Amino acid sequence: MSILIQGGRVVTAADDYVADVFIDGEKVHTIGKDLRVQADEVIDATGKLVIPGGIDPHTHLDMPFGGTTSADDFESGTIAAAFGGTTCLVDFAIQSKGESTLKGLDVWHAKAEGKATVDYGFHMIVTDMPDERLPEMQKLADAGVTSYKLFMAYPGVLYVDDGTLYRTFRQAGENKTRICMHAENGIVIDEIIKAAVKDGKLEPKYHSLTRPTRMEAEGVHRAIAIAEVADVPLHIVHLSCADALEQVKLGRMRGVDVQAETCPQYLFLDYSYYEKPNFEGAKWVMTPALREKWNQDVLWQGLRMGHLSLVATDHCPFCFKGQKELGRENFTKIPNGAPGVENRLTLLYQGVLRGHYDLNRFVEISSTAAARTFGMFPKKGTVAVGSDADIVVFDPGKRVTISVNEPATHHMKVDYSAYEGFEVQGYPETVLSRGRVIVEKGKQRTRGGGRFVKRALAGELLR
Ligand code: URP
Ligand code: ZN
Ligand code: ZN
Repeated sequence: MSILIQGGRVVTAADDYVADVFIDGEKVHTIGKDLRVQADEVIDATGKLVIPGGIDPHTHLDMPFGGTTSADDFESGTIAAAFGGTTCLVDFAIQSKGESTLKGLDVWHAKAEGKATVDYGFHMIVTDMPDERLPEMQKLADAGVTSYKLFMAYPGVLYVDDGTLYRTFRQAGENKTRICMHAENGIVIDEIIKAAVKDGKLEPKYHSLTRPTRMEAEGVHRAIAIAEVADVPLHIVHLSCADALEQVKLGRMRGVDVQAETCPQYLFLDYSYYEKPNFEGAKWVMTPALREKWNQDVLWQGLRMGHLSLVATDHCPFCFKGQKELGRENFTKIPNGAPGVENRLTLLYQGVLRGHYDLNRFVEISSTAAARTFGMFPKKGTVAVGSDADIVVFDPGKRVTISVNEPATHHMKVDYSAYEGFEVQGYPETVLSRGRVIVEKGKQRTRGGGRFVKRALAGELLR
């Protein structure tokens, strides 16, 4: 099967020009002006952007958490991703405490295989790492799982102590792999939570009020210090606030190999969402929590200046009915997480329209940086000869209102939208995954066919 994408404005993290893109099979074969080639299918991209498919390196599909399971599985989650212009995601497999990480990986392979519509990789969430288990980390790397997530938050669930952090960081560094860090001082936060609950402070807003930004900043500072000593590349996930970003800047200034992602929710939403009446604030109970609005300016600036490297969603959807409601009487019982895998690309495009960054940076933070960071570049994350034909034909003029009631913007299996009523301009029109048209003019054309991506080591290329 061959496809010619004709006359679009090809934008990568580095380039911006009008050209035709000829796809042969799964790969981009030729890029040039007025290509004279025979193709099985021609897509007219006049007036449209032709950009690399989005890469979302932080999703939680089919994840048991907070006494329930996230509402999107690999089928619905990857279809929603495709509609939103994301053609590759990196999900988090989980090691059950005391069990093999390799077993955790098998469980996640079984969840995804045969269900996914876009390509996917896995990070491994490490919940314990005694010395005798360290050799497993090399086996994970050999299997294409070249990054690990560890938690300073959620004591008694996913939390690990500093000794475990250091041991895992050291081994990850030796193996040329990368650490992803949920940086928040969960031990102190738990004390604050206990006091709030004792005082009868049980509404959703207390989820945020018990998680000071300083405790996120402390976690970031500690993670950077441990990574510096352990000599491992560090990626701070879901950074939410100015306090934490300051620590990233300090670490980078002294030469530590640390970078950070933020998420659309921290760029567009704020603490006031928790004050909505009738328990509605529970929809935005996520960790880290939404912050005071002024933090948003600092995060946008961080993206423009490069202090923040990329934007992921932390897509972790729970339905309001039946799932978020588990915490109606007590915010600590609300499953943490919110949906967003479908909304990321269009939301980030608003950053271009608002003058926060240019089109190249938009592509970089939505695709290329994730591919580079997580060992998928240049197979993924760019439009170039030889790269996978993961391509979005993006209509920069299309206006839509994001809503759970607007089928074009909501394919996630969750009964609310975190961005309900947001009016946006710029939306994916046609989406290709390895040369297959999966979304055509906003309609699904292909289902399934997503493949596991065996990722390269930190700093290495994947072809
Ligand atoms: O609230 C969140 N973020 N839920 C998902 C788990 C995590 O910490 O990433
Ligand atoms: Zn986290
Ligand atoms: Zn997460």
